[in-house]
Amino acid sequence: MFWTLEEEKKGWIQEIYQKVERKYRQVRERSKDKIPAMAINGVHDDRSDTSKEWGIDNGLNWWTNGFFAGILWQLYQAGKDERYAEIARISEEKMDACFLAYYGLHHDVGFMWLPTAVADYRLTGNLDSRRRGLLAANLLAGRFNPAGKFIRAWNELDGAKERNRGWAIIDCMFNIPLLYWASEELDDPRYRQIAMLHADTAMRYFIRENGSVRHIIEFDAESGNYLRSHGGQGYGHGSSWTRGQTWAIYGFALSYLHTGKKEYLDTAVRVADYFKGRLNAECLVPIDFDQPAEPAYEDSTAAAIAACGFLELGEILKERGKGYFETGLRLFSVLTEKRCDFSEDTDGILQKCSGSYHGTSDREVNFVYADYYYVEALLRLMDKRFLIF
Ligand code: GLY
Repeated sequence: MFWTLEEEKKGWIQEIYQKVERKYRQVRERSKDKIPAMAINGVHDDRSDTSKEWGIDNGLNWWTNGFFAGILWQLYQAGKDERYAEIARISEEKMDACFLAYYGLHHDVGFMWLPTAVADYRLTGNLDSRRRGLLAANLLAGRFNPAGKFIRAWNELDGAKERNRGWAIIDCMFNIPLLYWASEELDDPRYRQIAMLHADTAMRYFIRENGSVRHIIEFDAESGNYLRSHGGQGYGHGSSWTRGQTWAIYGFALSYLHTGKKEYLDTAVRVADYFKGRLNAECLVPIDFDQPAEPAYEDSTAAAIAACGFLELGEILKERGKGYFETGLRLFSVLTEKRCDFSEDTDGILQKCSGSYHGTSDREVNFVYADYYYVEALLRLMDKRFLIF
């Protein structure tokens, strides 16, 4: 790690790690047969339970299904306790049913298989995991639209009001690392080429003049021409959904790490500067920077992803990166002091996570992916960073 913490801060980080570790030793046993998306009243739900109302699209195919295993692999590599690996593999194996079902799989295969199969392969050399990762990479590459040079996000939903075959979303910056990995693994540039064409399109169409980021861009799927943007999960059209900003900050930083293309780093820095300029004094992150002051809805997920993104920028920029490192540390510290539940009797860690501004059932709840980014930030601060994306 380029930036070192003061001794007192190091001790504090170590204490937090102990709390997370103690909690997760309980959580992993309680949730070992689940693929959780969130903790409801302190108890993980289970997206692999096919008897539930969520069906395959919001069940086994749910975009966050890799994150529980992601937490377990992160803790495994930090502490080398085999039990984490054993339980992480349960999710990975259950998710094989998604490949067989095929229908409904979307661009979020990166979010799903990087923290499961690819993490497993990277840490243990498991060849079944490598196969899963490569299969997922091929599914993602198959969503590329050559005319518009973008990866299609979602599938057509039955009865959807809008056709979405030409839609791309900023979140995909976290799926394309699967393609960078596949290129390296197979010594075949095609996957990286697709990822970079998509990232170039994202730089051109998603980033506004002021450094803020749009959520959804619609292209004409035949000609590839830009058509319009859509508001997505933020407050409204033209607003700044904070999690979208963070997918861009950390996502472009990752594309820079994987390719060395300087424009990606410049883009990450531009969005990070915009984000920092809009943080309030408390450093608690709203769902959307342009939402009304009241109700003051928050999204701790955005804060946790931002913490990782800022810490990554601090690392990449070295001497020039002090301010980014400090912002990452501050975001992490505020979450730790104000939004964490370290109780061993509950399954979730981060509180006040929000899926979207206008959703009601997913506003200010707990999400497993928020917990993942919180744990990743913690391990970064301990210099035990394992790059999953
Ligand atoms: N990738 C979907 C979200 O951030 O909600």
